Amino acid sequence: MYKINDNYQKLPGSYLFSTIGKKVNAYSAANPDKKIIRLGIGDVTQPLAPAIIEAMHKAVDEMGCAETFHGYAPDLGYDFLRNAIVKNDYQARGCDITADEIFVSDGAKSDSGNIQEIFAENNRIAVCDPVYPVYVDSNVMAGRTGTYDPKTEMWSDVIYMPCTMENNFVPEFPKETPDMIYLCLPNNPTGTTITRAQLQSWVDYANKVGAVIIYDAAYEAYISEENVAHSIYECEGARTCAIELKSFSKNAGFTGVRLGYTVVPKELKCGGVSLNAMWARRHGTKFNGAPYIVQRAGEAVYSDAGKAQLKEQVAYYMKNAATIKDGLAKAGYTVFGGVNAPYIWLKTPDQMTSWEFFDYLLENANIVGTPGSGFGPSGEGYFRLTAFGSYENTLAALERIQKL
Ligand SMILES: Cc1ncc(COP(=O)(O)O)c(C=O)c1O
Repeated sequence: MYKINDNYQKLPGSYLFSTIGKKVNAYSAANPDKKIIRLGIGDVTQPLAPAIIEAMHKAVDEMGCAETFHGYAPDLGYDFLRNAIVKNDYQARGCDITADEIFVSDGAKSDSGNIQEIFAENNRIAVCDPVYPVYVDSNVMAGRTGTYDPKTEMWSDVIYMPCTMENNFVPEFPKETPDMIYLCLPNNPTGTTITRAQLQSWVDYANKVGAVIIYDAAYEAYISEENVAHSIYECEGARTCAIELKSFSKNAGFTGVRLGYTVVPKELKCGGVSLNAMWARRHGTKFNGAPYIVQRAGEAVYSDAGKAQLKEQVAYYMKNAATIKDGLAKAGYTVFGGVNAPYIWLKTPDQMTSWEFFDYLLENANIVGTPGSGFGPSGEGYFRLTAFGSYENTLAALERIQKL
């Protein structure tokens, strides 16, 4: 008789976006005349930039011709893309990263979920609270998190690092020593980030205690402040303690195209065993490469035209972010984020819970956001709005909120 992986049975239901969907559908059905503005889910809305579309068309044509057809991609990704990544994302920033340390993938969600596989089951993980849920759930599936307490919404073996107004949403070194530390900066959901000096102290800490940092830099393109690192490898010593995850979803609108990469430096070793070699083995065994057409599209992100067009796209979303942030502040809300990230994180007014505020905003302003409590217990009393809508909808949403 076969047995299942019982760890899956431990996972609490993932109710956040399904509950939002149900509530919005019920409200729409009862109020068909109301125009709902969605500032909830972190999906982009702007079309792919022309330079990317052009590269994709060209690659499609190549696939239709025997001389230029491409089958399986190389395990780690095509050189043209990995070299462009190294040159633009690392060398240009003074980071010492080489192409054989880059692993091209289909996005940061899979990589952030899969990376835990190369670590032992009894490692202790540390996560920020609130947090992008994939980090915890993938470790639950692997049996690394102990038991779940529905009252506290916490796992017995996970080290939580609360990020709240009190600490400016900056995680503090945990009291217990972790083996694996997940950091997402700029942060989803709080939209906040830390300075290069603060990140350096995390690198120093990880090297001191012998922990590995899984650094999710999916929102790196939104950094606007000078003293914020674009890559953890800007910090001294990161090559011996950090793995970096990157995505093409938010900087280039690839949420439906699918492309990302992971950096595993060759100096990252555990008892002499190279994590780079381990991840190469895992990648080669379980992944058959991002499509050629998509990797060519990724290459176009680094062309002069691509860079210019994507700078405008990011600026478009960041104009929305500023509109939301300033508009909310004028309306008397306490707001965070929105400067180095496309997320605005606000304190719910009048002691409302995150879900009470969700209902209030839906019913009175016909706006959909995301309750902070859906990202972890320390998210209670907060609410996330995204800058990924259209400018027109963003303006309209803010006008409605200001009239409340
Ligand atoms: C922190 C974080 N990491 C990773 C992802 C997923 O990125 P991708 O689309 O590359 O899978 C998201 C998407 O919302 C995210 O917020």
